[in-house]
Amino acid sequence: MSILVINGPNLNLLGVREPGIYGAATLADVEASVTEQGERAGHSVECFQSNHEGAIVDRIHATAADGTRFVIINPGAFTHTSVAIRDAFAAVGVPFCEVHISNVHKREEFRRHSYLSDVAVGVLAGFGVRGYNLAMAFVIEQLAGDA
Ligand code: DQA
Repeated sequence: MSILVINGPNLNLLGVREPGIYGAATLADVEASVTEQGERAGHSVECFQSNHEGAIVDRIHATAADGTRFVIINPGAFTHTSVAIRDAFAAVGVPFCEVHISNVHKREEFRRHSYLSDVAVGVLAGFGVRGYNLAMAFVIEQLAGDA
């Protein structure tokens, strides 16, 4: 396994949750698209979603031993609250891209701060669910450069 795609809380409701902000695609659509993209480039892709902060922390810890080379994460609301997820990435040192479907800078003030952005390789926000594919394209390029 080489690329891990993590989605945080409420992202299991994509497609039904505030479609005016997050669009009509479901999480299954997003995961299928990004998995196909990664596999076409010769990578294995695992998708993980949880509404629980500790489960996400545990999954990040597991990357230290499972061969994950890059993480794409939409941390959902934990973006704005979770020192624990930030510390988990710092602890294992796995590189990651942060993705937001909506442009968090155009929304409420509290969404402008991320506990993760300054330790992420890069951040994408506001490109809709295409943001996952843009991040995957970047990750594929990065891993090709590493090979
Ligand atoms: C989000 C933005 C967050 O502020 C919000 O809490 C989410 C989704 C996005 O993808 O735009 O759950 O990460």
